[in-house]
Amino acid sequence: MPKKSSFNERQSNISAQPRIHQSAPPIQAYGTVSHALPLVLEEPVRLEMTEQLNLLLADSMTLRDLYKKSHWQVAGPTFYQLHLLFDKHFSEQVEIVDLIGERIQLLGGVSLAMAHDIAETTRIPRPPRDREEVPVQISRLLDAHQIIIGHCRELAERANVLGDAGTNDLVVSDVLRTNELQVWFLSEHLVKVPLAVAEDSEMRKAG
Ligand SMILES: [Fe+2]
Repeated sequence: MPKKSSFNERQSNISAQPRIHQSAPPIQAYGTVSHALPLVLEEPVRLEMTEQLNLLLADSMTLRDLYKKSHWQVAGPTFYQLHLLFDKHFSEQVEIVDLIGERIQLLGGVSLAMAHDIAETTRIPRPPRDREEVPVQISRLLDAHQIIIGHCRELAERANVLGDAGTNDLVVSDVLRTNELQVWFLSEHLVKVPLAVAEDSEMRKAG
């Protein structure tokens, strides 16, 4: 019997046709961690840390998007500086989001990613679609930072207690420190100081 040609064999297994519209069950369920990893961190520790990091991720992604909303919608005499500042903070939050997402994965967990899941998970109140004035924009951003900073302090402490030094370092060095700095840059914009003429000299003139 003649042997099947290798061309015919290839035809049955390999094709130039892209296999589109594929689907299959997930390979790992959300809320679980890989059973055994060479990280010398017990499964219950990694479960708790990944759950907490997903909360931090959801809040950071929401704050990131709040910065882009503010960057686009800002108005008024400080438009240019705030337009740039909001975008700088947005970019810094993008980096934070990636660090948190990848830490969840390396701990054996599953990172949140999609907007629907972020909206259901975040603790940051939903802003209106409407445009708001600068002091309101900044107040919203500061409130969001406060939620994240409070969580960072608790999470860093807990990571320390559980022996997860990597999560502690990420939360303190990257997330907390960046958020603290951004709070400073924002909150200075809410200090009511004269722009051109010192208030005392105006009072002297009036007296
Ligand atoms: Fe832009």
